Amino acid sequence: MKTIENISRMSTFVKIMKKEGKSIGLVPTMGYLHEGHLSLVKAAKKHTDVVVMSIFINPLQFGPKEDFQKYPRDLKHDEEMAREAGVDVIFYPSLKDIYPEGYATYVTVEKLTGNLCGESRPGHFRGVATIVTKLFNIVKPDVAYFGQKDMQQALMIRKMASDLNMDIEVKIIPIVRDDDGLAMSSRNIYLSDAERKDAVVLYQSLKNAETLIKNGERDARKVIKTVEDMIRAKQSARIEYVKLVDTKELKDLKMITGEIALAVAVFFSNTRLIDNITIMVK
Ligand code: PAJ
Repeated sequence: MKTIENISRMSTFVKIMKKEGKSIGLVPTMGYLHEGHLSLVKAAKKHTDVVVMSIFINPLQFGPKEDFQKYPRDLKHDEEMAREAGVDVIFYPSLKDIYPEGYATYVTVEKLTGNLCGESRPGHFRGVATIVTKLFNIVKPDVAYFGQKDMQQALMIRKMASDLNMDIEVKIIPIVRDDDGLAMSSRNIYLSDAERKDAVVLYQSLKNAETLIKNGERDARKVIKTVEDMIRAKQSARIEYVKLVDTKELKDLKMITGEIALAVAVFFSNTRLIDNITIMVK
């Protein structure tokens, strides 16, 4: 496994691979790897010849009060995990290389980013769309891999690739969870023991809602209220949103019909966790 720390060397590597006729799979990450990230690598290895994982903590997608400065970092451990998972190249560019002084170009995807996390984190998706566009232009992947964990992000990137004729297939990979159901996240290490226990309620409340819907409940407000009540019962939890949306446009639904997603964002102290499930309702 190679670690490439600068853009021009990455470009040279990409040119050589393309000349050899190899397909490239890209797994963009911010590091502090866990099994969720590795499931994207596993998928990439199945479909593409060369797997590039980028590790870059992108300041542009963090709000002024968010955790950019203290976002967890451990490159040595990431390198070990990535090597074991079969990553061919870690692309680990510096901040200065990605956003040199005078940087002035940004990418905005409208509509899909209006609801859910887009509503509560202004500028976040503009930051994500911009860095992912840059990574796409540098690595020129045939296929790029994103997690369902960040559903809105993945759908936005797929839309962006299509709208901007990027000729990159965007694959979305299911959520990997701990044994008790908590979705894996680099941010889970911020949780105290008590908060970690309480956080299990996210998946439990989503599964409970799924049962309600499967049993015939079609009123979105009722389902949302049940999820909210379960989460509120946990002392350390503070709800940012519980929403029930369609999976195409991510618009709020009143009546539950078609393919829907139930999505939550909840704070445990300063740690903001998200989770979602999708359900097909006939
Ligand atoms: P990061 O949070 O490091 O996540 C990298 C990728 O791993 C994302 O596509 C995310 O959805 C996926 N992922 C995270 N947890 C997962 C889980 N439990 N199961 C499956 N996939 C999971 O998302 C970002 O970084 C950034 O916004 C990025 C796309 C790299 C742009 O900066």
